[in-house]
Amino acid sequence: MRKVIIAANWKMNMTVAETASYIPTFLAETGDDTEVDVVLIPPFTSLPKASELIGEAYSLKLGAQNMSAQKSGAFTGEVSAAMLRELFVRYVLVGHSERRQLFGETDQTVNAKLHAAHEATLKPILCIGETLAERDGGQVEAVLMRQLREGLAGLDHKQIQETVIAYEPVWAIGTGRNATPAQAQEAHALIRSEIGQIAEPAVAERLRIQYGGSVKVSNAGELLGQPDIDGALVGGASLDPRDFAEIAKAAKAAKE
Ligand code: 13P
Repeated sequence: MRKVIIAANWKMNMTVAETASYIPTFLAETGDDTEVDVVLIPPFTSLPKASELIGEAYSLKLGAQNMSAQKSGAFTGEVSAAMLRELFVRYVLVGHSERRQLFGETDQTVNAKLHAAHEATLKPILCIGETLAERDGGQVEAVLMRQLREGLAGLDHKQIQETVIAYEPVWAIGTGRNATPAQAQEAHALIRSEIGQIAEPAVAERLRIQYGGSVKVSNAGELLGQPDIDGALVGGASLDPRDFAEIAKAAKAAKE
């Protein structure tokens, strides 16, 4: 059985003060339920406050939105894996489509970051997904395979198994237009089968695959009801602690 993993990608939203009011509200709604892994992924500036407020809440884990592939040095504006570890960060998003599209990240930089994350025992969440033009052009499979093969290149089986994959079709991000459960399931099954080829079937069986792209309270249950959807990576709807708590509950209920 794969443990459900629900993550809140706040993107460039939420001040430290807003973070301080979010976490107690969220925990009051969910009551520190440890059956689901819940990952909060705030901006870097909110990580210390989030870490302090999470305290002993075992259900809540911290993630970062990005990290450098370098260990230290003259890389102005960058943050290293060791700096994240110091703040009790456990997960890190790698290759989010906004970073690929707006900040020029390639499959090669994504791959270097995955290696650096694993070396520092951070669990990477590798984001992949096709654009609308690629979907319309019948290239979904080719794009996902390339992003997986190049992104995961050189990792050993254990590292691949501990990587979380987030399937986020670019056309579904922030558009209100989510992939249908059937479209998402089809992509997730493809991803799992490809992981079986890159590593081995037992690794593919254990690896967790999240869906992201316009996940909200009203569609989370149906999406998570699909056999190969093990979690959600939530943007806009995660900014409200009550909505995000409802999504976590719906995800858990869908797997029971
Ligand atoms: P939305 O949930 O706002 O569509 O964002 C999805 C996303 O990019 C999460 O990483």
